[in-house]
Amino acid sequence: MNFSTSEIAQLRADTPGTAQCNHLNNAGAALMPAPVVDTMCEHFRLEARIGGYEASAQEAERCNAVYGSIARLIGAQQREIALVENATVAWQMAFHALAFEPGDRILTARSEYGANYVSYLQKARQTGAKIEIIPDRADGATDPAALEAMIDDRVKLIAITHIPTNGGLINPAEEIGAVARKHGIPYLLDACQTAGQMPVDVEKLGCDFLSVTGRKFMRGPRGTGFLYVRESWLDHLEPPFIDHFSAEWTSTDGYTLRNDAGRFENWENAYALRLGLGVAAEYALDIGLERIQVRAFALADELRAGLNQISGIQVHDLGSARCAIVSFAHDTIPAESFKLAAADSDVNISISSASSTRLDTEARNLPDLVRVSPHYYNTEEEIAQFLDVVKAACLNG
Ligand SMILES: Cc1ncc(COP(=O)(O)O)c(C=O)c1O
Repeated sequence: MNFSTSEIAQLRADTPGTAQCNHLNNAGAALMPAPVVDTMCEHFRLEARIGGYEASAQEAERCNAVYGSIARLIGAQQREIALVENATVAWQMAFHALAFEPGDRILTARSEYGANYVSYLQKARQTGAKIEIIPDRADGATDPAALEAMIDDRVKLIAITHIPTNGGLINPAEEIGAVARKHGIPYLLDACQTAGQMPVDVEKLGCDFLSVTGRKFMRGPRGTGFLYVRESWLDHLEPPFIDHFSAEWTSTDGYTLRNDAGRFENWENAYALRLGLGVAAEYALDIGLERIQVRAFALADELRAGLNQISGIQVHDLGSARCAIVSFAHDTIPAESFKLAAADSDVNISISSASSTRLDTEARNLPDLVRVSPHYYNTEEEIAQFLDVVKAACLNG
């Protein structure tokens, strides 16, 4: 593969969790590298020693540099980044800032994430906007040509998930962005599972808003995320709620919103976690997102190839090019049994159930799926170990 054996050994030495378990749940929360953990611990200790406000003041430059690291990770400008507590908050800040009227159309994909979809449902109830699903191509990915055919002047938002939570699909986010750009329609992209797994470039994607979490393939801490807001929106997009950080209270009855994406943040923040997120972004950039993608995808392909050899197993990943999320089910053995068998061997995996991607689950009549998500720091041996667990679980029925 595209990393030398010694480099993988070094990366694993830098990742204490790899000595404890075979972590194949990077789509849930990846193992953090030591520099991320050390940075956070140092800041917590500083807070304990000199006080929380004093610590963030002392480390103001480093705290500020986190915006630059995130901006570099996605090809944005620093002022287009809001640091928030997770991907859902990031997504909601953008979505609920947009206005909808009765009959307005929200176009989304069959693989849309549950948290986003219930927000569409709520918005539809509250405003009379309509939710419509963009048809899929034959390979199961969202079809940009079908999207183009749906466009009229009632379309007020195109919002899709780039890499859905429940499998290997990579939606053609760039082609969808080209349709959105051509017609001047706001485009909100959920890149929660994308960042850290493969390169993300907001200019190429053509999105207006992009939401990401820190803990998944980015290898940052839990409780972190960010929102990208395209510069051209920054001077007129009113956040759904504000405080005296996002907007200065400038007169008794007036306020002035910040002129950067900070208008989507609020005053109190977990500075230690933010610093950890910044280090995670730099760590991924130093390794190189193209290289990360090649190795993580190759490990996932190896896993799919192995699963395809096991009688009774069906791999359920959609799309022509597949990412590092592998989903499968057995004809008779429930997903939970594989998870328990894996846990017995210190292998971490997870289960995707209907509520996270209900439209897709129902359309394909899927059972709960076993979700296995390697990252670049995993090894071929770990993939083989998990395949052995699956084979043994199948034999035991
Ligand atoms: C595709 C996708 N979008 C959004 C989210 C929500 O992320 P968070 O839990 O950080 O809000 C997830 C989490 O699993 C996800 O997989």
